[in-house]
Amino acid sequence: MSDNAKIKIGNKEFDFPIKKGSVGPSVIDVSKLYFKTDHFTLDPGFTSTGSCESSITYIDGDKGQCYYRGYPMDTLAEKSNFLEIAYLLWYGELPTKIEWDEFSNAIKNHTMVHEQIRVFFNGFRRGAHPMAIMVACVAALSAFYPDSINIKDPEQRRISARRMVAKIPTLAAMAFKYSLGQPFVYPDNTLDYSENFMQMCFAVPAEKYKINKVFAKALDKIFILHADHEQNASTSTVRLAASSGANPFASISTGFTSLWGPSHGGANEAALNMLKEIGDVKNIPQYIKKAKDKTDPFKLMGFGHRVYKNYDPRAKVMQRTCHDVLNEIGNTDNKLLQVAKELEKIALNDEYFIEKKLYPNIDFYSGITLSAMGFPTAMFTVIFGLARTVGWLAHWKEMMIGNKMKIGRPRQLYTGPNPREFKELSKR
Ligand code: SDX
Repeated sequence: MSDNAKIKIGNKEFDFPIKKGSVGPSVIDVSKLYFKTDHFTLDPGFTSTGSCESSITYIDGDKGQCYYRGYPMDTLAEKSNFLEIAYLLWYGELPTKIEWDEFSNAIKNHTMVHEQIRVFFNGFRRGAHPMAIMVACVAALSAFYPDSINIKDPEQRRISARRMVAKIPTLAAMAFKYSLGQPFVYPDNTLDYSENFMQMCFAVPAEKYKINKVFAKALDKIFILHADHEQNASTSTVRLAASSGANPFASISTGFTSLWGPSHGGANEAALNMLKEIGDVKNIPQYIKKAKDKTDPFKLMGFGHRVYKNYDPRAKVMQRTCHDVLNEIGNTDNKLLQVAKELEKIALNDEYFIEKKLYPNIDFYSGITLSAMGFPTAMFTVIFGLARTVGWLAHWKEMMIGNKMKIGRPRQLYTGPNPREFKELSKR
């Protein structure tokens, strides 16, 4: 097969190179298309457009598989831990013992935030959505750590990335505590990453906090499942923001902004609210009918995916994790889980969902799991963003390699008025 794609415009034919990856679809390199043909491509939503070359995560949408640096994600969720996955995504290999000790200790040294940030929180109403606080506070970190915002300096890039993966759980827990009116809880560096986040969220000064190992393990798996996912909306947002040379904290805060939407990371909150609204398995048929009705904007939240046209592998792990947590609290007949499983069964046997290849995605079971662990729905997307920070930073680091970064600047198909003369008011 030729390594070139041919495009014929009028009686002219143009060649464009076909590039093959290590696995997955090849690409047609159209970077010279405008120069050669005076035409742009048009692909709203980027359904057929690759934005970059990347070696971090590979998703096989047809087989329903996902790989972090070549390792199957579901295997890593069972056998590894989140901080080790951060190292893998950032540096491309699982750490040796020496590398692990250095990395995990370094992260522990950055878990506290500047005390002045506590004052920053006071500007928010107690009922402010914690994602609003995260968007603001993550960007504000650039004002507190001006010694690590120069993206041209590899050492400052290293420090800012480690600061964010260490401090974002602290900020997330502070946002949760602030909404409760409870005092902030400082990090405890004798604990591992997920245990520390649990204690910052649920410990209170009045009592000795006991780590629930089942919950901590479940949370660590949830972090791993959410760590990265190729060029999704929030990762692409971070890449585009960072391409202008914006500082690392401001660039990562744009990831939280994009993730917040209900079509993306906000779907876990929306999915749980939907399950609560359905309330009982007897109400499922009317919601399936609404989801299929083209005139009704209602969609089954936690269902469907741009890339997975088979079962989202993360949803399978999440369902097992959900059972573990519900067994731990003795709530094995959880009503929402019953509605979710019945909804899944009905939808997966319905022609509409089969034809459109709509399966449960990562957000379908995560809400039930997090809710059973004691997190309110408003914290679900915050937890997603906490985990995805590692992926956003992996892509951000990848962009900086070799100083080949170009500012992202898409073009358009202009459909507005043709150039015209200005008319004085008296003549309009
Ligand atoms: C995440 O990109 C990533 O990797 C994202 C993510 C990550 O880890 O970063 O995996 C995390 O965001 C998961 C997705 C969470 N979102 C939801 O669960 C919200 C509900 N899902 C839909 O909004 C939708 O499925 C999307 C946004 C996820 C995908 O949308 P696409 O790829 O643009 O597909 P589409 O909207 O064009 O849908 C194709 C068809 C449409 O019908 P037609 O116009 O062809 O007749 O399927 C229908 C849609 O109406 N459809 C649904 C549906 N999802 C799609 N119909 C009912 N319920 C749904 N959930």
